Amino acid sequence: MSFIRYKKNNLFVENVSVKRLLSKFNTPFYLYSESGIIKNYNLFSNNFKKSKPLICFSVKANSNIQILKVLKKIGSGADVVSGGELLRVIKSGIKPNKIVFSGVGKTEEEIRLAIKNNILLINVESENEALLINKIAGKLKKKIAIGIRLNPDINAPTHKKISTGKAEDKFGLSKTNLISFCLNSKKLKNLRLNAISVHIGSQILSENPFKKTLKVLEEIIKKTKINFKFVDLGGGFGITYKKKERKINLKNYSNLVEKFRKKHNCNIIFEPGRAIVGDTAILVSKVQYLKKGSNKTFAILNAGMNDFMRVALYDAVHNIMPVVKNSKKNKGPLEFVGPICETTCKFIKYNKYQKLNQSDYVAISDVGAYGASLSSNYNTKPLIAEVIINKSKSRVIRKKQDIKSLINQ
Ligand SMILES: Cc1ncc(COP(=O)(O)O)c(C=O)c1O
Repeated sequence: MSFIRYKKNNLFVENVSVKRLLSKFNTPFYLYSESGIIKNYNLFSNNFKKSKPLICFSVKANSNIQILKVLKKIGSGADVVSGGELLRVIKSGIKPNKIVFSGVGKTEEEIRLAIKNNILLINVESENEALLINKIAGKLKKKIAIGIRLNPDINAPTHKKISTGKAEDKFGLSKTNLISFCLNSKKLKNLRLNAISVHIGSQILSENPFKKTLKVLEEIIKKTKINFKFVDLGGGFGITYKKKERKINLKNYSNLVEKFRKKHNCNIIFEPGRAIVGDTAILVSKVQYLKKGSNKTFAILNAGMNDFMRVALYDAVHNIMPVVKNSKKNKGPLEFVGPICETTCKFIKYNKYQKLNQSDYVAISDVGAYGASLSSNYNTKPLIAEVIINKSKSRVIRKKQDIKSLINQ
């Protein structure tokens, strides 16, 4: 979080004091650091530089077009999971030959869109999806490059709602089914099996499940004797939301990836989302009310689970930082909650916190990934603004949704 830090008790994003922005923008709003995004991308890229991978930013983590444009400028490709995301990515200027399309339920319309745009790979998640793509490609008289997604049955230690690589999860094909698909793939005349892909889950903080996945891939390549042009290793690299968490060490893994790449003479693709944008944003919010409960004080924010869903959805832990620090102590425990009429619309409880007053401002931390992209109009609340900082400059990258357009829909 080096681009988001305190200077003399005032929270700054790059060179801009958050307090100063409060006179310019109404809370709540997302606030990003552009340098943070660039730094994270370059760090990730440098880590794997020996393998020269194609890095396809996972758009579901953050689909703001201006952020996609920042990433495009520094060379990123994109991993999309819907026709809408694909259209956003194309609008951002990312070239089709850097786009991969994953997802278990692609519609005919989405498949046609992907084919028409000549994207690098459609990552297929079932035999029936492959049959449909083959049929559509035939009608369009095209031969389409596909990847086939493996479900390696690996239990990556993460929250159960973001695990994707176990046998019970809906993603990809089991080892046996994938091998038999590969061995019969020649029958699908309009498809070119260019890749094998895998994504075992999100917010993974240990290298071990990634290493185990490489072993399963080795086994499959050996059994199918297919020289895949691309091996798409997915995303899932965790960040440290909690102080005690240990950052994932990618050095070791990157050596294994390079060994694997050389041995199989393939091109590597990665699909990181959270690792690129997760720690690059805060959600600035006002304490609308303070309310005494029987054993704690509620700080009711003007941002809710509609604006930021991760806590309600995944029991995620996100610290809340005061926009201006003080040295006084709050009496008793304090729980930050939101305004939405759901018990789960709450953020975090502290036993000790600084003295907080009504109308103070705070910032929910590490909200750059699966923040704005997961927000909704629940309780008929408009989507909030997104602002990005580049050194000393701020610019709005999404305006707050107009309430009139929302109710006239
Ligand atoms: C297929 C695929 N690739 C990449 C990602 C990005 O994951 P992360 O943001 O954890 O890197 C996801 C997220 O769920 C995914 O489903």
